[in-house]
This record gives sequence, C-alpha cells and structure tokens, in this order.
Amino acid sequence: MPVIELRGIKREYRMESRKKSTENNGSDDVVVVRALRGVDFCAEAGEFISVMGPSGSGKSTLMNILGCLDKPTAGTYSLDSIETSKSNSDTFAYIRNRKIGFVFQSFNLLARTTALENVELPLFYRRRENNEKRQSAHARRERAIRALKEVGLDTRMDHFPSQLSGGQQQRVAIARAMVNDPAFILADEPTGNLDSGMTLEIMGLFQELNRQGKTIIMVTHEPELAAYTRRIITLRDGQLVSDVQVAERRNAQEDLAQWNRDHALLADKTAS
Ligand SMILES: Nc1ncnc2c1ncn2[C@@H]1O[C@H](COP(=O)(O)OP(=O)(O)OP(=O)(O)O)[C@@H](O)[C@H]1O
Ligand SMILES: [Mg+2]
Repeated sequence: MPVIELRGIKREYRMESRKKSTENNGSDDVVVVRALRGVDFCAEAGEFISVMGPSGSGKSTLMNILGCLDKPTAGTYSLDSIETSKSNSDTFAYIRNRKIGFVFQSFNLLARTTALENVELPLFYRRRENNEKRQSAHARRERAIRALKEVGLDTRMDHFPSQLSGGQQQRVAIARAMVNDPAFILADEPTGNLDSGMTLEIMGLFQELNRQGKTIIMVTHEPELAAYTRRIITLRDGQLVSDVQVAERRNAQEDLAQWNRDHALLADKTAS
C-alpha cells in the first residue's frame, strides 16, 4: 500500500488578463497556465526521493499539492489511504499538521524561541485537534527532547536560533518536522542556504533517518545531492518525464569525512 498515490494530477492557474479583448465583446481574457499536466506518482513507506527539473517545470506546485497546501485542479491524491481532494478544509489542515513534516530552505524557526520550544510547537497544534488525546506538558517535552536527540542536538536545546550554526538550525527544523511522527518529510531545497560541509551533514542526517525507516521527499537542483537519495523523479513542463532508482548511492557520512580531511590538509598548507 503506497503512502502517497497521485493519479492524473493537474494544476492550472487561471490568470485574468487586464486587457479587455475587443473580439470577445469586451469580456476579460483568461490565460491558463498549466503548471502540472497529469502527473501519476506513487511512493512507498521508507523511500528517499529527489524531485528535480528545470525552473518552472512544476516542482513547487507539486510540493504544494503533496504538502496539502494546495489542491489540484484535477486528479486524485491519497495520503496514507486518505483521499485528500475530497476532504473539507478542517480535515485538509489536520492531514497537513499530522501527516507531513516540512523542512524549508530558510529553516523557518521562531527567533525568540529556544530549539526545544521550536520542536514542541507542532505538538501544541496537535492538542487542538479534537479527536487527539491531550498530551501532558511533560509528555510533549519528552517527545521534543527525543526528536532533538535523534538529530544530535541534545546539548543545544536551550539555544536560540541565532546561537546556532546554519546546519544546527536546519537540524532543529528537521526535529520539528519529525516530532509528530509524520507519514513523510517534505524538504524543499533543505541545504540551499548551507555551505558544503553543513550540506553533507544534513544529507548524512537524512540518510540516517531514512535508514531508520523515515520517508523523505526532497526538491533539489543539484545532481550531486540527488545522488544521496534512492530515487529521482524529474519534471519537465508539468509532466513527469523520468523516474529512476539511484544505481550507486553515495554515502554522505563518508563524503563528509573526506571533505574534513581535505580541509585539514588545505588548512595545513595555508598555515605553512
Ligand atoms: N500562483 C501562480 N499563478 C500563476 N502561475 C503560476 C503560479 N505559481 C506557479 N505558476 C507557474 O506554474 C509553472 C510552474 O511553477 P513552479 O513554481 O511549480 O516551478 P518550479 O519547478 O518550482 O520552478 P523553480 O525551480 O524556479 O522553483 C511556472 O510556469 C509558473 O510560472
Ligand atoms: Mg520552485
């Protein structure tokens, strides 16, 4: 049973042209942008998938639909066997809060809030859902601490975002994405704001979480990063044009170790 099942997904944006057309008896012209033109796609639990494709090919549009931030114009999307397109706005928001963990390029952490409090946040929203059991403050805290341990940040729990490196901030964001135990993690260029060392750290963390069974979908422009995932889908002009398994997956922890050795060597050379 796939976690994600997209069938014939289309997304059209209708843009009213400001110019009145004289041929149409003065009625507004409507320009239709076909951002997705019938995408079929399934993902099983435990996959680690890259979404690639040129600018304007529909990646963000697809991510917004997968993340239940937007509904398709046509087609069906079932997530964990729930048909999302038929759900009302409350159910839609519930699915988004409980089933999906978001990781953004810009981290999106609350600045005046500690790492621990940032990770606890989704658990507060969860409390508001009427059919969820209320969690005690203690249980919430325990869960958030566990998530921070999983990303290797248990010694930085009381730090504010500004007191953390970029890579550490992204780890907090990943802990926050995981704390509700979502059906999958949706990451939109998660290393876009990080240097190469931190990028490898984050890719290593994703590989480790995936090894433990987490399902991850990541948008990236970079083939080198897609090489750390297990499967690559490519969009072009709103269509899925390729879907391949990664034959020789790279190991981010090994690459990071090599990167550190190279840097130490370089530092030695510049010092002498
Ligand atoms: N809100 C909108 N209204 C009208 N057209 C839109 C809207 N959002 C996206 N589009 C159009 O839909 C197409 C797909 O856009 P999308 O943002 O999904 O591309 P992308 O693959 O994410 O590109 P990038 O790599 O540049 O982020 C583009 O042609 C874009 O101009
Ligand atoms: Mg985009």
